[in-house]
Amino acid sequence: MAWFKKQRATREKMLYSEGFPTAERPSYRAVLSALEMQLQAEWYLEIGSRTGTSLADRTCNFIAVDPDFSLGNNVFNKSETQFFFQEESDKFFARDFLSINKIVPELAFVDGMHLIEYILRDFRNAEASMSSDGVIALHDILPFNTRMTTRDLTALDKLDAWTGDVWKIIPILQRWRPDLTLEVIGAFKTGLLVVRNLDPNNRVLFDAETDILGAFQGTELSDYGPKTLFDSFELTAPATYIAAIEG
Ligand SMILES: C[S@@+](CC[C@H](N)C(=O)[O-])C[C@H]1O[C@@H](n2cnc3c(N)ncnc32)[C@H](O)[C@@H]1O
Repeated sequence: MAWFKKQRATREKMLYSEGFPTAERPSYRAVLSALEMQLQAEWYLEIGSRTGTSLADRTCNFIAVDPDFSLGNNVFNKSETQFFFQEESDKFFARDFLSINKIVPELAFVDGMHLIEYILRDFRNAEASMSSDGVIALHDILPFNTRMTTRDLTALDKLDAWTGDVWKIIPILQRWRPDLTLEVIGAFKTGLLVVRNLDPNNRVLFDAETDILGAFQGTELSDYGPKTLFDSFELTAPATYIAAIEG
């Protein structure tokens, strides 16, 4: 067992490029659980669920959206009420299911298509359905090399992990939504961005979409500069973050 763990740690270390911060255990799932507890969430919204690994941890009611569910976890374990939408998130939000049913999620987890134009839409649509006390967590904001940030979907099966260009949501929110509070958690394996101080009526990300994508969609991390990105925020270790939440 110790040998296996050591091998795994060595393998993981080899994937990191110089200058990229290292994510630590516990994973994003433990942070999500701490947030659920902190918010005493009644409703959780998840964009991108796949096997239901992150859903299976939830104890509150949830709405899960994924065009291609492949559930392999007991997602019915702890939660009382669940809604599944097997469709793309844009279609789900266009239904207005949440407002029609007066559901205001306290916690949302964005982990769907890892391309910035999708992440931007998922973020702003989730925010519009929440209250100012809600929290949106975005997965995969901390790549550990530039290969995994590719927008080339044909290259994915050659990668150990794909974060896509989700990292861009950090500079985008820093620039266009300075009113939000951003917390970057170095949670294993590819980080978590926790966004607070939401404003469901804010239209900036809707109105400035062309400018935002014009500035960021074609930018590669290697051109933007990993140092510029990683110097732009303070990274909090997941254990520290969870301990602060749990008091
Ligand atoms: C990384 S997986 C999600 C993993 C899961 N959240 C977890 O932590 O175990 C990403 C998922 O996003 C889904 N996805 C892809 N495009 C999407 C879209 N437009 N809307 C919602 N989900 C999408 C994929 O089908 C895939 O299952």
